[in-house]
Amino acid sequence: MSNKLYFFDTTLRDGEQVPGCQLNTVEKIQVAKGLEELGVDIIEAGFPISSPGDYNSVVEISKAVTWPTICALTRAVEKDIQVAAEALRFAKHKRIHTGIGTSDSHIRYKFNSTRDEIIERAVAAVKFAKKHVEDVEFYAEDAGRTDNEYLARVVEAVIKAGATVVNIPDTTGYCLPEEYGAKIKYLMEHVDGVHKAILSTHCHNDLGMATANTMAGVLNGARQVEVTINGIGERAGNTSLEEIAMILKSHKEIPITTNINTRKIYGMSRMISSLMNMPVQPNKAIVGRNAFAHSSGIHQDGVLKNRESYEIIDPKDVGIDENSIVLTARSGRAALKHRLESLRVNIQKIDLDKTYEEFLKLADRKKDINDDDVLMLVGKERNEGGRIKLDYLQVSSGVGIKPVASICLDIAGEKFEAAASGNGPVDAAINGVKKIINRKMVVEEFLIQAITRGSDDVGKVHMQVSYKDQNYYGFGANTDIIAASAEAFIDAVNKFVK
Ligand code: KIV
Ligand code: ZN
Repeated sequence: MSNKLYFFDTTLRDGEQVPGCQLNTVEKIQVAKGLEELGVDIIEAGFPISSPGDYNSVVEISKAVTWPTICALTRAVEKDIQVAAEALRFAKHKRIHTGIGTSDSHIRYKFNSTRDEIIERAVAAVKFAKKHVEDVEFYAEDAGRTDNEYLARVVEAVIKAGATVVNIPDTTGYCLPEEYGAKIKYLMEHVDGVHKAILSTHCHNDLGMATANTMAGVLNGARQVEVTINGIGERAGNTSLEEIAMILKSHKEIPITTNINTRKIYGMSRMISSLMNMPVQPNKAIVGRNAFAHSSGIHQDGVLKNRESYEIIDPKDVGIDENSIVLTARSGRAALKHRLESLRVNIQKIDLDKTYEEFLKLADRKKDINDDDVLMLVGKERNEGGRIKLDYLQVSSGVGIKPVASICLDIAGEKFEAAASGNGPVDAAINGVKKIINRKMVVEEFLIQAITRGSDDVGKVHMQVSYKDQNYYGFGANTDIIAASAEAFIDAVNKFVK
């Protein structure tokens, strides 16, 4: 068996399915190019039949990317496969990823079908996809809860039909590592012709075992891992690329080789977090803000004497350059540009002078500007294209008084003012916006986060607003959390008030 492990990145498909994480085509191309530089072998670029946006992204990514294989997802349905093949027409290397549920629960409740019929549909889908592309991957959805004997029959049949890769998803994140490893081992030992294809892992993190399960799969013969940057994905997410890459780099006794250039990991992680407005939890392995921070005296002392006392990974191996993390009000435009480039921000796509101006304003209010702050400034600039803008906001609040907000919105160049009260300053500010916009909008979710620790920190606000039975997501960032909240609300409103 080959020692080469293929990295299949599904940040742009399974990752992008997360509510509020949707990217436009330009942003997706930026991510795909970043993944190419990172050394990912296969990029799952979307599910073309699901929307014109997904279709278009697959087309454009196919044109923009050179060496990785571009993959498009389908159901085991001819129309899906036809549309995917069409979307992939410009790809230098292309793959169709088709499949169907194989667990008894999927067969019975989702398809009202039988085990034999599901095999027939799986085989037909692979054969149909083979008419369009040479490289066909089959997924056995909910394989984690599929009986191994039946799963082996499915895998054998699709390999016979021409599948080059067979994906064994633990769709619900249910498996234990031993169980998932044993599943791959069982397939390796019981499927006739298994060596004609590659078995792939695709693990979800519902019970926090995605990485452990993926590693168990690899140790038992899987040679492709399906992963996302920062582990983003449906519900609790998917296996994170950076964890698998660094496990393999750290455990030299595992005889596996990969194409991943681990020094590109940190920049890629920040790019995804910033484009998707999705903060990385501070203690996230490999890329979290605290992943290399030693706060206890004993640990600090140990690391100063010898880094390896408490660190198994050199931060430089994941692309963290400790000397360049902090910018201040005295940093010049060139320093900011250099930082943005090392964070993989596409300088051509932003107004550098404007970002620098905003940077100086922030640096006046906040002593040290870190990577998250810089990315927040860029993200803010991206969000500024909306029709409605916050012109000014004044809020008075405190103990024993009713919070009141005076607000002015700039709507396509015209100014509208309102005053409103609320049960708190954020509520008052949002009521002010509602008075001006005058539509039935409800804040369904509201999350405030500070990026670092000081009281001068930038607050990030994520908001979910419902309007006419649809949810819209907004994001705001400001050292004033009331202003950040109003900005997030306006950002969401901009998505349905055209
Ligand atoms: O989790 C899953 O089963 C999937 C498949 C569509 C591959 O994402
Ligand atoms: Zn999935």
